[in-house]
Parts: sequence; C-alpha cells; structure tokens
Amino acid sequence: MKNVLITGGAGFIGSNFVRYLLAAEPEVRLVNLDALTYAGSLENLRGLPDDSRHTFVRGDICDAALVERLLREHEIDAIVHFAAESHVDRSILGPAPFVQTNVVGTFTLLEAARQAWGGKFEGRRFHHVSTDEVFGSLGPDDPPFCETTPYDPRSPYSASKAASDHLVRAYFHTYGLPVTLTNCSNNYGPYQFPEKLIPLMILNALEGKPLPVYGDGRQIRDWLYVEDHCEAIRLVLRRGRVGETYNIGGGNQPYNLDIVRQICALLDEFHPAGASHARLITHVPDRPGHDRRYAMDTRKIQDELGWRPRHNLTSGLRATVEWYLGHPEWVQAIRQQNDYQTWLQKNYSKREDFAP
Ligand code: NAD
Ligand code: DAU
Repeated sequence: MKNVLITGGAGFIGSNFVRYLLAAEPEVRLVNLDALTYAGSLENLRGLPDDSRHTFVRGDICDAALVERLLREHEIDAIVHFAAESHVDRSILGPAPFVQTNVVGTFTLLEAARQAWGGKFEGRRFHHVSTDEVFGSLGPDDPPFCETTPYDPRSPYSASKAASDHLVRAYFHTYGLPVTLTNCSNNYGPYQFPEKLIPLMILNALEGKPLPVYGDGRQIRDWLYVEDHCEAIRLVLRRGRVGETYNIGGGNQPYNLDIVRQICALLDEFHPAGASHARLITHVPDRPGHDRRYAMDTRKIQDELGWRPRHNLTSGLRATVEWYLGHPEWVQAIRQQNDYQTWLQKNYSKREDFAP
C-alpha cells in the first residue's frame, strides 16, 4: 500500500495521522481530502509538504464523482477514513450534518472504492476510524467494551457512527471489500479543536473564563494521547486482519472533574495567575443523554499486533498543555476561524437549548 487517501486529514486526529505517516513511511504518498468545515484547518497542516508526497484536496466525501476520480487518478490502494462530524454537543443541537457526512459520506466512499477498484481487491484496504461511543454507556461495575459488545449508541453522533460501521462491515460481507475498523476512546493532544473538553478547558482557563463542567463531573472517559491512536491505526492498516475490528484505548478511568483539576494544576505551574485556575470550575446543566462511563478492553490489538499506548495520562496532559501554551499563533488563527466565537456564545449562554 503506497498511495493512501486520507479523508478528514485537516482535522485533529487526521492531521496528526498525516504527520505521523509521512514521518514513519518515507515511500508513502498521501492524498488528503477534507472539506475544511469549521473543524478542519490548513493551520493543522502548516509546515507539511504540499507536493507529490502530500497532496491536499478541498472537497466533500459525499461528492461521489470527486472521490472516484481521486481514487483512479492517484491509483489509491488504501483509504484511511477519518472525515466526520465529531462533536456530540453539536449533534444534539443539529443532527442533520452528522447523518449526511457520517452515514451518506461513508457510504459514498465505500461505493466509490467498490467501483474504482472494480473487484480487484488484492493489496487494497479500506480502513474506517470509529469510536467507543457506538457501544453505549457503562455502569460503574460493568466490564470494559470489547469488540463483540452489542452496539447501543445513544446520541445522534454515536448513532451516525454506528450506522457507518455497519455499512463498512456490510461492504466486506457482501462485496468482499477489504475493510478494517478501529473503535477508539477519547483522544487528546496537539491540534484538537477547542470545543472538546481538554483544549476548551485549557484555553478558557488561560483567559480567566468559567470552566463548564457538565452535571456532577463524575462521568468517566478512557483517554488516549493522539499519537498512540495514530500508531495503532498504522499497525492495523499494515498488519490487521481484513474484516476485523480492533478496540483502542488508553486504559485511563478518571472523572471529568479530575481531568479539569489536573489541567488547572498544570496551568498553575506553567502559567501562574495568582489564585488557582481551579476557582474557575463551574458546574452547568448536564448534556442530555450524557453517557456515564466508557472503558475499552484492548487485549485484541495488544495480543495480535503488539500495540500498547506509549503515553500515560500524566505525561500526555503535560505535553498537551505545553503544546497549547507554545502555539499561540495556532490558537489565535483557530479562534478567528469560521464559527468558533458563535459556537462559544451559543454553548455558554444557551444551555436551555439542551433541554429535551
Ligand atoms: P475533527 O472534527 O477534528 O475533524 C474532522 C475533519 O473532517 C475536519 O477536518 C473536517 O473538515 C472534515 N470533514 C467533515 N465533514 C467532511 C466532509 N463531508 N467531507 C470531507 N471532510 C469533512 O474530528 P477528529 O476528532 O479528528 O475525529 C476524526 C475521526 O475519528 C472521526 O471519524 C471521529 O468519529 C473519530 N474518533 C474521534 C475520537 C476523538 O476523541 N476525537 C475518538 C475516536 C474516534
Ligand atoms: O469517546 C470517543 C469520542 O470522544 C469521540 O468519538 C468524539 O468524536 C469526541 O468528541 C469525544 O466525545 P466526548 O463527548 O466524550 O468528548 P467531549 O470532549 O465533548 O467531552 C468529554 C467529556 O467532558 C464528556 O463527558 C462531556 C464533558 N464535557 C465536555 C465539554 C465540551 C464537559 O463537562 N464540559 C464541556 O464543556
């Protein structure tokens, strides 16, 4: 697999993956297809080559003619599919783009691959990047999600990702399309759009704004540093078994509130502001349908492919806070971009929008 189409490669995980793969595999050539929605930015690709090793194309994965043309023109033999609407809060406020991009967009890519590859699947691969949220919500004593846990999505976002996973598997069983899937837990690290918990808290704290913790803040996520996710995807792409799904996660189980407190402590160290940043923590009404706990059983990818996360939450959070402090020009550019300010306004002042 030499010519790889990356979808959503100007977003958070996609841009990290582009950097990672270009560095790890000098012979690989990437075509990076991204619509540059509010969540994507060329700022995330700054410093990368724009040449035959990395060609950026602005376009929509729902555009069948464009996708099929790219597959043929660039003789693509592997697709790594990140492009999605990815924020749960936005899916509650407006689910339509989630169905369009996550369901229709994934279908369009699958069908384009089937047509362009014309049944010649030897040496080809369609890798679909998905989420732990498709499995639903765990109680405090439930075992972690494994690959055979039944799907139970509970937000428009996770339902649309679940639908896309089902389509990917259907193309494997029905047409023999050589697919692999990964379902990963919460990522954090450089270039994450500051609508998600960790970058939102870092940037709000630096500005002395409230740190909005949903409900009691005792929800649990399984946090993974983004580079570890990139490494896992590359392993699955190269050595994963066709038709298989692999769970990926960091094995961390902190309460959201603990994460926010850790961020405040790091900022107190790196960027002292007199009183502790923790004074800004503010409990706000909960997200409707808020999943209480996620945890991932990652024994399959560990046993089959030897993957293990290299970062723990302490080192990963420290690196992340340092990255945001060290990249004010990126923060400034992203803040001015598209609808970020409008979203913050809506997010803050209109909590009642969330009322069922
Ligand atoms: P993101 O929102 O940061 O980036 C998504 C990218 O997709 C953006 O660059 C956007 O412009 C692009 N995009 C959106 N709609 C498009 C369309 N119709 N056509 C082309 N491009 C389009 O998302 P992320 O956090 O980097 O997540 C990437 C993928 O990983 C998603 O599929 C998500 O479901 C999955 N995932 C994310 C996490 C996480 O914690 N962030 C965890 C597990 C899985
Ligand atoms: O689990 C994987 C998923 O993780 C990915 O599939 C999604 O694309 C990604 O957005 C993420 O979903 P979450 O909803 O878990 O991420 P978010 O950063 O929005 O929220 C993390 C937790 O923090 C969640 O319990 C809600 C809470 N939260 C979030 C925000 C933005 C707050 O308490 N306050 C906030 O302001």
